[in-house]
Amino acid sequence: RLEAVIFDLDGVITDTAEYHYLAWKRLAEELGLAFDRALNEQLKGIGRKESLEIILQANGKTAAEAEKEEWIARKNRYYLELLEQLTPAAVAPGVLALLQELKAHGIKIALASASKNAPLVLEKLQLTRYFDVIVDAGAVKKGKPDPEIFLTAAEQLQVHGGNCLGIEDAAAGIAAIKAAGMVAVGVGDKATLPAADLVVKTMNELNLSKLQACFTGVR
Ligand code: G6P
Ligand code: MG
Repeated sequence: RLEAVIFDLDGVITDTAEYHYLAWKRLAEELGLAFDRALNEQLKGIGRKESLEIILQANGKTAAEAEKEEWIARKNRYYLELLEQLTPAAVAPGVLALLQELKAHGIKIALASASKNAPLVLEKLQLTRYFDVIVDAGAVKKGKPDPEIFLTAAEQLQVHGGNCLGIEDAAAGIAAIKAAGMVAVGVGDKATLPAADLVVKTMNELNLSKLQACFTGVR
């Protein structure tokens, strides 16, 4: 039985995945590093430190630890600047209705985002109160595609992983959900998310009965 839905944040609940891209792009330009949307696709769902390593590696560059720390802090400042424009109007179409429907039916709701800015983003979107659990990204040791963050969400919700469904926009996130033994719904492009049990183009296409049908089809 479907008992809980675990959401990713950036690119699912709101389009902050675009803000992450713009912030990395600004940093990369300042550092004279190549960075495009194809490379950015690999950063989705990946923590800030690892993201920088991926950009450096793609450019055949290495750097001192202190330098990397400064760059990561700078990227985060750029990201926070972009977040200043974030209001409840930025909640992706369909998300609020889905959260309300899940709540009305007693389905538990959790957030499993690798972003340390996730609590701030939910506050700005005025969505915090819908979440029974918000996993602390700082406390997760192994990032996506490792299942740790989704397993932690299920544990904190006190729901068996087999009764959870996860929603993700990143390939690493879908892999994490599947590795946790959960049903995976992808938001975006089918070609980018081949491992998902169901892929929708936008959150607007989802409602409880669609999630139930997907869940029952897999279980
Ligand atoms: C999410 C995003 C990534 C981002 C990561 C860390 O997983 O998809 O693009 O790098 O969070 O976010 P943070 O806000 O902590 O830098
Ligand atoms: Mg995401």
